[in-house]
Amino acid sequence: MGHILVVGGTGMLYDVCRHLCGSVNTVTVIARNKKRLNRLALETKELVGSINPLSLDYADYEQLKDDLKESIFTNGPVELAICWMHTSKAPEAATITAETIHKQNKQTKCKYYQLLSSATADPSHEKRDIFKDFKSLDNIDFRTILLGFVVEGQTSRWLTDKEICSGVIEAIENDTRNSIIGTVEPWNRRP
Ligand SMILES: NC(=O)c1ccc[n+]([C@@H]2O[C@H](COP(=O)([O-])OP(=O)(O)OC[C@H]3O[C@@H](n4cnc5c(N)ncnc54)[C@H](OP(=O)(O)O)[C@@H]3O)[C@@H](O)[C@H]2O)c1
Repeated sequence: MGHILVVGGTGMLYDVCRHLCGSVNTVTVIARNKKRLNRLALETKELVGSINPLSLDYADYEQLKDDLKESIFTNGPVELAICWMHTSKAPEAATITAETIHKQNKQTKCKYYQLLSSATADPSHEKRDIFKDFKSLDNIDFRTILLGFVVEGQTSRWLTDKEICSGVIEAIENDTRNSIIGTVEPWNRRP
């Protein structure tokens, strides 16, 4: 592997970043807080891979585009992307990220994993074609990971960071196109 992008890698995807640094990769991590980015870089220093911290707000689309472009110029095409974005606050961020990789990667393919909140599976919502914006991006291999919940007897709960990271790593290692961590059924058991 070579250059990997993790959007939101200082939060619940922290252990995914650590895992990816276990191999010779440059892992570009997007988040706003510089201190948390630097801590991730420091705490993975002993590993063979390295963190390239990219402090930016993905709702600032111009900065997202420019900084990502520069990062690809420096570190090479992004072969794997794992993106967790709050789309209500930045509805275009995922498309801009994918389009920038598409343009800068040229011939190199990118496995692009978009993490989706459980709300995406709400049966009362009209189904949206989330692949629509990505269809023309021929070097972007778009995949999804749906974050569900856990039903435990009479109760249910949200996923832990550990469960989310294990599920994401499993999806990458098994090369899964669309996966669900936990469950989204029955929907009325959603916490
Ligand atoms: N279905 C489920 O069970 C489920 C689903 C989602 C989350 N959760 C849980 O809920 C907890 C909180 O989740 P969370 O959504 O806050 O995710 P998080 O992964 O804990 O934090 C969000 C990540 O995205 C970055 N980020 C947020 N807004 C950004 C922006 N505008 N620009 C750039 N980077 C940005 C954050 O860094 P900065 O703040 O520094 O920018 C951080 O790295 C997690 O611990 C998780 O386990 C559960």
